[in-house]
Amino acid sequence: MPSNDSFFQDPKKAAAVLKHGILRRYLAKFAGATATTAPGRRVAFIDGFAGEGEYRHLLTGVTEAGSPRIALTIAQDLRARDINLECTFIEKRPEAFEQLEALVQSSGDRFALALRGDIGDHYEDAVGRAAHAPTLVFLDPFGRSLDHDRTVAALAARGDTVPTELLLNFSLQAVRRMGARLYESEEAQGRAATLANLDSWLGGEWWQEEFLNEKLLELPREQRAHPAALAVWERYASRVRDALGYHSYDVEIRRKPTDKPLFMLALFFPRINALYSYNDHVSLAAQDWRRFLAEMEFAEAEALDETDPLLGESRLAEAKRRFADDEEATKRQAIDDVKDSVTLHLSKLGYLHVSKNLDKVLGAAVGIARETHIRAAWKELAAEGVTNGCPKGSLEKQTIWRA
Ligand SMILES: C[S@@+](CC[C@H](N)C(=O)[O-])C[C@H]1O[C@@H](n2cnc3c(N)ncnc32)[C@H](O)[C@@H]1O
Repeated sequence: MPSNDSFFQDPKKAAAVLKHGILRRYLAKFAGATATTAPGRRVAFIDGFAGEGEYRHLLTGVTEAGSPRIALTIAQDLRARDINLECTFIEKRPEAFEQLEALVQSSGDRFALALRGDIGDHYEDAVGRAAHAPTLVFLDPFGRSLDHDRTVAALAARGDTVPTELLLNFSLQAVRRMGARLYESEEAQGRAATLANLDSWLGGEWWQEEFLNEKLLELPREQRAHPAALAVWERYASRVRDALGYHSYDVEIRRKPTDKPLFMLALFFPRINALYSYNDHVSLAAQDWRRFLAEMEFAEAEALDETDPLLGESRLAEAKRRFADDEEATKRQAIDDVKDSVTLHLSKLGYLHVSKNLDKVLGAAVGIARETHIRAAWKELAAEGVTNGCPKGSLEKQTIWRA
């Protein structure tokens, strides 16, 4: 069994649990929902930084699905509902591409396509191939992504008649690393090329203002890059939203709760009604991620219990109890956050539509709370005389009124 330390040194792993948990749920939902009105019930998924398709963990030997295998499995499931999810995968690294191609071939999916090479050589064609089909584009590089201008131009050119969404995994660590080179001397080797690379990724030099912000420059150099990268992300997301006329919802992707986020996984979407189910998917994936981290602790505790048993409660039993308590506390906090936010906003607005005002309903619990927590909060508020009663069934289209 890997120790937690060696496990967490594999940056793909824990972060991927959250990312894949969201992708798996949302791609199935997107395809199922958009296919009903799509010509030929065709829906497209474009995975621009696809990777090898599945990963074999070096230490455990366990095979984990990467985004291509997740998408191919969903495509297979949807075929039973007469929906064609047509997947295009792009991968640059030759060894990864070979594995990806073998996976696609072995899937027997005649609509799936694996393209070898740089995303820059395939992107517009891949989007063009999906011209009349609702399309989810997934861009998930380790480092820099495709140039901003090209990323949005091909999507904007599709107009607003065909549903088009972008799931972007934005590498904060790459922005931190590349952007911090601004603080080096102008002659430093590779500095100019790195900064130019960042300019074309982010679509201009605007990001430099964030790294050169006066307040930030008062901090020691090693503390600047993280807040600068977060500020760059905020502006970048707003540029994508403005270019496409979209909304966005982002989730911090990190290895463990105490680490700095490595990525911002953001969904850019045109219609606000995607938000309610997406938030549910995020909340469930975050729960998977917490359980995954706990299971690593359980494995470590169990191994220690075997080699060095304790007299009283075992380490494993203690770790399991702590996890159950933490989950209970997370749930209670999520309900309390929803109650606080609903109470605050009802005092000003008088009513809140659950999905149209989702940000005001969830408050600080965004991405943690989902329908089950909203229901619990609403019932408590009703019992306290603050709101109307909570109805049965889906809450998505319901309205909370001030009592
Ligand atoms: C984070 S991994 C992809 C993980 C995959 N999306 C998943 O969820 O399983 C990024 C992949 O992009 C590939 N890559 C890097 N630069 C690329 C480029 N310019 N064009 C296409 N692929 C690229 C890398 O070789 C790597 O396999």
